[in-house]
Amino acid sequence: MPGEEIFEKGRFEPPSEFKEKAIVKSESIYEEAERDLEGFWAKAADELHWFKKWDRVLERNHPFYRWFVGGKINASYNCLDRHLDTWRKNKAAIIWEGEPGDSKTYTYQQLHHEVSKFANVLKSLGVKKGDRVTIYLPMIPELPIAMLACARIGAIHSVVFGGFSAQALQDRINDAEAKVLITADGGYRRGKIVPLKKNSDEALENAPSIEHVVVVKRTGEDVPMKEGRDLWWHDLMKNASHVCEAEPMDSTDPLFILYTSGTTGKPKGVVHLTGGYIVGTYLTSKYVFDLKDEDIYWCTADIGWITGHSYIVYGPLANGATVVMYEGAPDYPQYDRFWEIVEKYGVTILYTAPTAIRAFIKWGEEWPKKHDLSSLRLLGTVGEPINPDVWLWYYRVIGNEKCPIVDTWWQTETGMILITPLPGISVLKPGSAYRPFPGIKAEVVDDDGNPVPRGQAGNLVIKSPWPAMLGTLYKDPERYKRQYWSQVEGAYFTGDGARIDEDGYFWLLGRIDDVINVSGHRLGTMEVESALVSHEAVAEAAVVGIPHEIKGQGIAAYVVLKEEFKPSDDLTKDLKMHVRKVIGPIATPDEIHYVDKLPKTRSGKIMRRIMRAIKTGKDIGDVSTLEEEAAIKEVREK
Ligand code: PRX
Repeated sequence: MPGEEIFEKGRFEPPSEFKEKAIVKSESIYEEAERDLEGFWAKAADELHWFKKWDRVLERNHPFYRWFVGGKINASYNCLDRHLDTWRKNKAAIIWEGEPGDSKTYTYQQLHHEVSKFANVLKSLGVKKGDRVTIYLPMIPELPIAMLACARIGAIHSVVFGGFSAQALQDRINDAEAKVLITADGGYRRGKIVPLKKNSDEALENAPSIEHVVVVKRTGEDVPMKEGRDLWWHDLMKNASHVCEAEPMDSTDPLFILYTSGTTGKPKGVVHLTGGYIVGTYLTSKYVFDLKDEDIYWCTADIGWITGHSYIVYGPLANGATVVMYEGAPDYPQYDRFWEIVEKYGVTILYTAPTAIRAFIKWGEEWPKKHDLSSLRLLGTVGEPINPDVWLWYYRVIGNEKCPIVDTWWQTETGMILITPLPGISVLKPGSAYRPFPGIKAEVVDDDGNPVPRGQAGNLVIKSPWPAMLGTLYKDPERYKRQYWSQVEGAYFTGDGARIDEDGYFWLLGRIDDVINVSGHRLGTMEVESALVSHEAVAEAAVVGIPHEIKGQGIAAYVVLKEEFKPSDDLTKDLKMHVRKVIGPIATPDEIHYVDKLPKTRSGKIMRRIMRAIKTGKDIGDVSTLEEEAAIKEVREK
């Protein structure tokens, strides 16, 4: 099978000390969940606070599954109030570090105070249960505070990533028909100011549902405030009461909307429901990150994405964890900012993205080596397949060969991690996301929905409901059914390719639309990219399928070289040979182009769709999620 040889790069057992202290110590958890799915999740739900216990754990009204039906719960209460009558009251909930170097810590009690005050502010602006509130903020404490304040009163938040343009913000406000927008004067990114208020004003030129804009003062530059509409956060907070009871919500009430790109230009409003979401993120945070009270946990994602919602805000806070939150870029002011933060706060668990790790590799080992990273005990990755070589670098250089790595597969739609190692018991293979979380049934099927033999690539589907699953697409239940439940009967269609190896390990192969078919052989773009990245000269690579007269599809590779290497014909030959050697002749790239940057979304995913469109002369479509336009220009010119 092509690609098999690049995948087996050893097996890694959890260190014995880790194993002994781990929350999950035994494989029996898988059987337990399989034997009684509802009982397994009910037990987790029982660890949280309910105003009224559910009548039924799961209502199977396919495909509109509903969890903890009849239960009354509040997510904000579970993240805050639940800890206040325990010793955690004075424990750090959020340790925040600003990009310029300022920092702030909120204990659970202080966070509760701020959230309650802001919840009262929202009420005073006329926000009621079920109303939508759009939040467009940098990574500052006011962002989780605003989210938890919405959750407290039952308003539905829609966080729009601070890197999105005015147009993208406008589309999302209008789709949600939000009543209030929460933004800031600006945010810091790589030493520059992102003009959030200016973007907001532009967005609001055509967003009639917005009645008020609450503006956080972050950068302090002069911004126009529209009389009657715009209000300063600090003015509103001055006189707000810190007493605000959490609203008992139906378990099935929406908690938030989060927009994500689909295959069409129009973003999809993924709706998550209160009870199931909080139970799912609570338990996965606890088991996957082995989250304990002594931990200092840092997820480097932006809260504007699902990773930040589930694994900075709701999951960890529901566990009463101490969470580090960082405002800025990893290379500001220097390439060692992340390592400086790990050392400064004694971070024990680090959860980041493969794209960030590849950047660290490019910048060189000397940067992490400058710092004491010995506090780390667990590493995680999310967002894209991790190349085995990148995994090994992370394991060796950052983890000092003593930290398990949890490669966690999930999606905006799934709300919580679905395929992942459990760090105290799983024997890891670099590049594999291990196997489904207890209670999750995942399969790899062909286009007719039949399971493919072990070792073969196919479509990844989920065959059992899970608590944090999306409830619907906002105002579009038909699209929800069509998009996720119409391809394979009775199963949730992930849109990802995968294969399961002989040992039952899952290998994610990227989006299905990124799978290339060369002479009838299916190749994951990721397999070819992994092969390229395993060459000493390559920092990063993206591969797209291009039309080919004989093979059906050929392969075009875009390659970013490590700083000390220069493009040459010899290197091109060498890279082609290398891929042939690693995967087989079938995977030899037809074209290799050298670029300085790959077109990426702001969350770091390579936008192969754009590269493919340019290559095949098609319209490049919606580019609102693109990080830098210059990268498109480069690809066009090659
Ligand atoms: O293709 C998979 C990839 O990211 C997609 C989901 O993207 P998004 O909704 O933006 O959520 C990202 C954060 C959860 C998936 O369909 N993906 C995510 N995690 C992994 C991954 N691919 C491989 N391995 C992963 N660990």
